Amino acid sequence: MDILNAFNEYETAAQSAIADATSAEQLEQVRIEFLGQKKGKLRDLQALVGKATKEEKPVVGKRFNEVRTAVTEKLEARLAEVATAKTAAESDFDPTLPGQAMALGNLHPITRTITHFRELMGRFGFRVVEGPEIEDELHNFDSLNIPMEHPARDPLDNFYIATATAMAGGPILLRSQTSTVQIRTMEQEKAPIRIVSLGRVYRPDAMDPTHSCMFHQMEGLMVDTDINMAQLKTVLAMFARSFLGPDVEIRFRPSFFPFTEPSVEVDMKWGDSWMEIGGAGMVDPNVFRSVGYDPEKVSGFAFGLGIERFCMKHFEVDDIRRFYENDVRFLKQF
Ligand code: PHE
Repeated sequence: MDILNAFNEYETAAQSAIADATSAEQLEQVRIEFLGQKKGKLRDLQALVGKATKEEKPVVGKRFNEVRTAVTEKLEARLAEVATAKTAAESDFDPTLPGQAMALGNLHPITRTITHFRELMGRFGFRVVEGPEIEDELHNFDSLNIPMEHPARDPLDNFYIATATAMAGGPILLRSQTSTVQIRTMEQEKAPIRIVSLGRVYRPDAMDPTHSCMFHQMEGLMVDTDINMAQLKTVLAMFARSFLGPDVEIRFRPSFFPFTEPSVEVDMKWGDSWMEIGGAGMVDPNVFRSVGYDPEKVSGFAFGLGIERFCMKHFEVDDIRRFYENDVRFLKQF
């Protein structure tokens, strides 16, 4: 029906005129044009309704009412909109104000130290390997030549995990040292080996300025046919100097570890005294045997360094606990 088309056209035109209007004055113009009683377009439509045949009338009449209601409602809604909307000039928003700088985070000092350590040891030809933090006794103790009755196995000195132990069918613990990775590497690979492994270790130590129940170690292992103690000392001294500067003083003290023979403890000059920074030594023949190496054919050195202590020295931090408190004022300095 032509009449219905006329209604549709009227409605579309009215809707878009309403949408385009941006002020109450413009909307008033639109109202006069489309809904005005005297000369409005709606009047023309009303005339069409009058001319419709008797059968058409109910349909056309209904449509007329629909269109009028729809356009009237739309107009009122738009009127409310433009009344509340402010123009850009009146608005409180000032696009010329400077923005707020975004606060950028930074890497944790321990993370930065680990990255630096990897890079330095990489230059000495040491490859980085990873090992699990949850370990069995085989890797944390047995293969490292730590006898059953050794105090290092004391449940009071380790974090044994009861549920994991029950599931695994044997004792499971959070590793107390990264030396576990020496074993895992030698189980997988043949000599020559030159690796470092950096990661977390766990010990139920009382927290104080230099101790934490979780800290990081860098384990090193070098195995070949003619490895000796002088090479170990050279690597550690060069490493310490590369990281802390040429003036750093380190010393080696005779010591004992079940997995190295001979063994040393490594200290660093710390103010007027010395601070222990790790242990090291020549890999014990029993360790080689436990991973199927022939101690008559290969020799090697191993070391384990406390990463936090180097980091404290480097960044002049006097309390290890600062690293784990997540205090942004502290972390922002690095
Ligand atoms: N694993 C020893 C510790 O945590 C350090 C160490 C590593 C000693 C390698 C000798 C050789 O105390």
